[in-house]
Amino acid sequence: NELYAVVGNPINHSKSPRIHSLFAQQTGEPVEYTAIQAPLDDFAGTVKQFFEGGGKGLNVTVPFKEDAWALAEHRTSRAEKAGAANTLYLDQENDLVADNTDGVGIVRDLRDNQKVPLKGARILVLGAGGAVRGVLGPILAEQPAALTLANRTVAKAEALVRLFADEAANIELSACGFEQPGQPFDVIINGTSASLQGDLPPISGNVIGPDTVVYDMMYSLQTTTFNQWALDNGAQRVYDGLGMLIEQAAEAFHVWRGVRPETSPVVDELRND
Ligand code: ATR
Repeated sequence: NELYAVVGNPINHSKSPRIHSLFAQQTGEPVEYTAIQAPLDDFAGTVKQFFEGGGKGLNVTVPFKEDAWALAEHRTSRAEKAGAANTLYLDQENDLVADNTDGVGIVRDLRDNQKVPLKGARILVLGAGGAVRGVLGPILAEQPAALTLANRTVAKAEALVRLFADEAANIELSACGFEQPGQPFDVIINGTSASLQGDLPPISGNVIGPDTVVYDMMYSLQTTTFNQWALDNGAQRVYDGLGMLIEQAAEAFHVWRGVRPETSPVVDELRND
C-alpha cells in the first residue's frame, strides 16, 4: 500500500482517515491513510520525515495550512491565491508541491450536491480569516452577481476584496462590518471561527429571507449554532461543512491518485457514525 496522512495539532478528532479509507475501499486504490500530530514548532520536520519515509501525500489541517503553503517549493495557482495549502505531494523532481482543495470542496457541495445556484447569486460571506481566503477564488469563479464580505475586523475584509479584485471583474465585491448588510441574500456562508466557541457573529436576521440558503463551514453532529440561528430566522435550508470536508478530500484523492471517488455514499456513512 502507498502511504498518505493528515497532519494537524490536535489531530485525534480528524475524520480524514475514515473518509480516505472509504475512498480507497470504494475505488480499490492501494491507499493507506493515517493521522499524524506534528509538534507546534516542527511542522517542517514532520513533513520531511514523512516523505523521506516514502509517504506519497499529506493533507494539512489546523494550524499548519499556512506553514504548508510557505514550505512548498511549488504551489498550484489555486493554492497560491488561497495563501494556505491543505494538500501536499512530491512532483517528478521530488519537489514539494502545495495545493488547496477547500474552495473546490465547498463549491462542489453547494452547487452539485445541494443544487444551490452560485452563478448570478447574491452571496454574503461572514469572516475574513484563512478559511475564507482559502475558498474565495473558486466561489468567485462561479460568477455570482454579488459577494459581500462581512467581518468583525472590517480592514481584513477590505484587504481580501483588494486581493481578489482581479478575479471579480463583473462581480459586485464589497466589504463591511457585521452591522452593515441589511437585505436578504440568496446564499450566506459562515466562515468565521466564532461557532467553534458556540458564538454567533452579531449579524441582523434581516440578511435571511424565505429563499435564503445558509452554509456553515463548520460541521458537528447537531445543528451548528449558526445554522440554528438561521433556521430560527426563517432560512429555507441550512447545511453544515461535512459535505465540503468530504469534497475537499475527494479532490485531494484525485490529485494524488488520478481517480475521483464518489462522495455521496461517504457522506451517508459519516452521518451515521
Ligand atoms: P480561520 O483559519 O478559521 O479562518 P482565522 O484566520 O483566525 O482562522 O480567522 C478567524 C475568523 O473568524 C476571522 O474572520 C475572525 O474575525 P476577525 O478577523 O475580526 O478576528 C472571525 N471570528 C473569530 N471569533 C469570532 C467571534 N467570536 N465573533 C465574530 N467573528 C469571529
